[in-house]
Amino acid sequence: MTGVQLKYTQDVAAATAPLYAMLEKQYSAAHWETIAPYIFEINRLKAEKNAVILAHNYMTPDIFYGVGDIIGDSLKLAREAASMKADMIIQCGVHFMAETSKILCPEKKVIIPDMLAGCSLAESITAEDVRKLKAQYPGVPVVTYVNTSAEVKAESDICCTSSNALKIVNALGRQGHDTVIMTPDKFLARNVAAEAEIKVIYWDGVCVVHERFSAQDVRDLRAQHGDVVVLAHPECPPEVVQEADYSGSTAQMDAYIRDHQPRKAVLMTECSMSDNIAAANPGVEMIGTCQMCPYMKRITLPKILEALRTEGPEVHIDPALIERARLPIERMLALS
Ligand code: 13P
Ligand code: SF4
Repeated sequence: MTGVQLKYTQDVAAATAPLYAMLEKQYSAAHWETIAPYIFEINRLKAEKNAVILAHNYMTPDIFYGVGDIIGDSLKLAREAASMKADMIIQCGVHFMAETSKILCPEKKVIIPDMLAGCSLAESITAEDVRKLKAQYPGVPVVTYVNTSAEVKAESDICCTSSNALKIVNALGRQGHDTVIMTPDKFLARNVAAEAEIKVIYWDGVCVVHERFSAQDVRDLRAQHGDVVVLAHPECPPEVVQEADYSGSTAQMDAYIRDHQPRKAVLMTECSMSDNIAAANPGVEMIGTCQMCPYMKRITLPKILEALRTEGPEVHIDPALIERARLPIERMLALS
């Protein structure tokens, strides 16, 4: 950390006390004294620079509840970016999310606190791969998960997120297609195919976080925790989704817990999501089985503060590429 020394002053303590009351199960008092000055300074600087922080559900609770202005799943963050009034967006998530924001708001400064916050799915496919798929299956529409680069989106007909993938595939069916190509997540594609009205051809990408869950994990959890409600992200293997009580995007799982208030729940997804849900639902016991996303965890409070101070690193995309990549995202937003 460069610049002014951050201190846990009375002002910082007072300003962050309501937040600490919510997060005290997650952070000891001593730990909070090191975190709170960052939250205070980031919020001050954010107001001064007319910046907005978009924070994905996988951010740690200090970021998610402490400095996030818009919080949610990939779809919500994309939707909100499209109507953003601020001068600057600080994307607390991974690189493809920052690219989506830049594509939807090309005139704004879009900053990601760590350029190396990537995604195994985004790395699993290139624009050339999509061109080859289109040559192999002429006329078959390509539905591309938002977890991809701008170049891959630009070659695709329409994007999807985990919350609207089935809806989009079925909408293409109603437009007269009997088959779609889904890239790049084979598990999301197979989970969609299990319920879709038309045939789904899929690419071989996986999320390194969700592929680690197994159906045996679900059975072991049920054996150990009796009435536990199991929720699985659709990036999990199909056998995990089939064993689970509910499957949905990060926002859909969050809404399920909020609306159903089960006594005990477990999320087959990234760890911070359980922490964030536990903080907002004190009556629900969240069982701690989870997997850490090494990319999401590159985003930290000190890096967010540095990004705000230096106004970088900034996400740049060639304007011609923005034009091509915007279309499939806008088609998705229109359909969801
Ligand atoms: P959501 O769209 O459900 O937030 O998922 C994004 C993601 O990267 C899950 O691994
Ligand atoms: Fe990518 Fe998986 Fe991390 Fe989501 S959890 S950002 S899909 S690697």
